[in-house]
Amino acid sequence: KARLFSGVQPTGVMHLGNYLGAIKSWVKLQELYDTFYCIVDMHAITLQHEPKELLEATRRTAALYLACGVNPEVSSIFVQSHVPAHAELAWLLSCVTPIGWLRRMTQFKEKSARASDASEVGTGLLTYPVLMAADILLYQSELVPVGHDQKAHIELARDIAERTNRLYGNRQWKKLGGKGGKLFRIPDVFLPPVNARVMSLQDGTSKMSKSAESDMSRINLLDDPKLVKSKIQKAKSDGQVGLEFDNPDRPEANNLLGIYQTMSGISKDAAQSECKDLQWGEFKFRLAEAISEHLRPIQDRYKIIMDDRTVLDQVLQNGADVAAETAARTLFNEQAQRDAEGSG
Ligand code: TYM
Repeated sequence: KARLFSGVQPTGVMHLGNYLGAIKSWVKLQELYDTFYCIVDMHAITLQHEPKELLEATRRTAALYLACGVNPEVSSIFVQSHVPAHAELAWLLSCVTPIGWLRRMTQFKEKSARASDASEVGTGLLTYPVLMAADILLYQSELVPVGHDQKAHIELARDIAERTNRLYGNRQWKKLGGKGGKLFRIPDVFLPPVNARVMSLQDGTSKMSKSAESDMSRINLLDDPKLVKSKIQKAKSDGQVGLEFDNPDRPEANNLLGIYQTMSGISKDAAQSECKDLQWGEFKFRLAEAISEHLRPIQDRYKIIMDDRTVLDQVLQNGADVAAETAARTLFNEQAQRDAEGSG
């Protein structure tokens, strides 16, 4: 089976954007690929954080993976910092990545501009995408399922892989008697067909995000039905009757209808025809119901998982073991090792 890697940062609680943009695809793809799903705690420390809170959030995120249907019997679920190979490969890759490639990344520009003073911007914020490339390339991943906001990062990972293959791949493999092989497989991005960009409830033109100040801008996976209802009722709407997709003048309608479609598990056409004449009030009522219905089993499973911590520990331990073994094959180039042993 071809391999696949993806991850979520353990900051705050996962929201509908994370779920629809990424986790939902993960659950489907675990049937088809050899899957590695990571809680990327080393990425989370690129911004200031509370260490104790980070540990808790790491566990919560892992528990939510399971609650959403990621199956530890077929997927390796692990914490990034438990597998040192990520940091090791990141250093190697940083030596072949031109600084200009990193300075150009919009996420770096945005996040560093947000810091109140420049001395707060750590080097890790700049080299963040290199660590991300290491995550992906260590597992020789063929596919990386993410939301639209990560697309540029995956493209950079491809560029880094190609550059490394070009600079070192051929030479090393020829020395070993190979025919100009590659060090890394070039990964492809996988975006979900709907909801690749889930937008804020308060503004249909900016993305739903964990770091947005107002909690009213997002639905968290652990929000109870009452909270979901009030967030949806207060969500931004427009003055028009009827919901529709793809009207550039109605970003809120497009966003909420997309969420409604997936949350109720119906087709785009069905969502469109059901909602095309609805008043906003009625639509919002149905939307809030659909979201809470969809989240209920996830929240139930989450509680059970968090109640018995030993199971979660075991899952993360097994995941880290499999990941470390797989990662070592890339990092230490097994063939080179065998060769070295043979001549020694
Ligand atoms: P993070 O933690 O910001 O988000 C996790 C996943 O959720 C997706 N996502 C969204 N999708 C649709 N609409 C939204 N509003 C929305 N918000 C978030 C993200 O695209 C992502 O798939 N750098 C990554 C984590 C990472 C990673 C990796 C991902 C580290 N290494 C290797 C893939 C492969 C991040 O910060 O995601």
